[in-house]
Amino acid sequence: MRRLRRTAPLRALIRETQLTPSDFIQPFFVAENEASRTAITSMPGVAQLSISELIGEARQTAALHIPAIILFGIPDEKDEVGSQAYARDGIVQRAVRAIKDAVPDLLVMTDVCLCEYTSHGHCGIVENGEVLNDPTLELLARTAVSHAEAGADLIAPSDMMDGRVAAIRRALDSSGHEMTPILSYAAKYASSFYGPFREAAQSAPQFGDRRSYQMDAGNAREALREVELDLAEGADMVMVKPALAFLDILWRVKEMSPVPVGAYNVSGEYSMVKAAAERGWVDGQAIMMEILQSIKRAGADFILSYHACEAARLLTWA
Ligand code: PBG
Repeated sequence: MRRLRRTAPLRALIRETQLTPSDFIQPFFVAENEASRTAITSMPGVAQLSISELIGEARQTAALHIPAIILFGIPDEKDEVGSQAYARDGIVQRAVRAIKDAVPDLLVMTDVCLCEYTSHGHCGIVENGEVLNDPTLELLARTAVSHAEAGADLIAPSDMMDGRVAAIRRALDSSGHEMTPILSYAAKYASSFYGPFREAAQSAPQFGDRRSYQMDAGNAREALREVELDLAEGADMVMVKPALAFLDILWRVKEMSPVPVGAYNVSGEYSMVKAAAERGWVDGQAIMMEILQSIKRAGADFILSYHACEAARLLTWA
């Protein structure tokens, strides 16, 4: 076996899994706050951005040949029904218009969910301490249409309500956005790996947790059922989330899915690498690449990652 491992060119020639910048989607947090950048303590190198800062970052992302970004909005005002999520001039809607104007060739995806916009921090409407399913669908559909209207290229619902892909597909089709694809967060687990994101997006639930809508980490076959349902409802692509502790799920989904499969290398996965590297306990760049490669090897056709630009820079210079 060692004959083919002897030199770097030999290894490069026969490597099955090669990362390229076009594997990545870079997430960004855009805030209404006038401050151009607000650092996120638990995610070194990541910040909440104003729209003008975001445009600069979007340009750099496109220059690295990363095909797409995904936007998360941080509104100034939150209320019980998350009305800023579907406001025509909400923060994401304005950001999408600005980016499509400035960097038209960059794919702009939007995360569709209510948790960043609701005062209680849940992903749906709350009544008597319960997150209601069907009444939430209408608001998610309105949010999706408002993003498409602003020019979003692709809609990515992350709320985990049942039936949301069908509701969003129907709403997009009947508002003239039949060509806007849906990337469903199909197998999204209730995970502590989202911890830093909730600081970043100020979206931690104010009571209880998300276990009544996000998946239980002990279940694998249920993920396949979630994917089948989302496909039946019209999802164009599906996603597994988180990535690293769920690579077995990613592999199983890739085996059965007829559509492209993405993986979300989530905030906690990112922050653990940054924290250990800061202490000098690991080689941060090397384990970043190893982690991203493992996600692609497990079956991801594309990877949402806060490392995207950094990894693309390394790949470009290497
Ligand atoms: C919104 C949403 C979350 C993430 C993506 N979309 C948070 C959550 O479900 O609590 C997490 C992303 C990350 O941790 O990087 N529902």
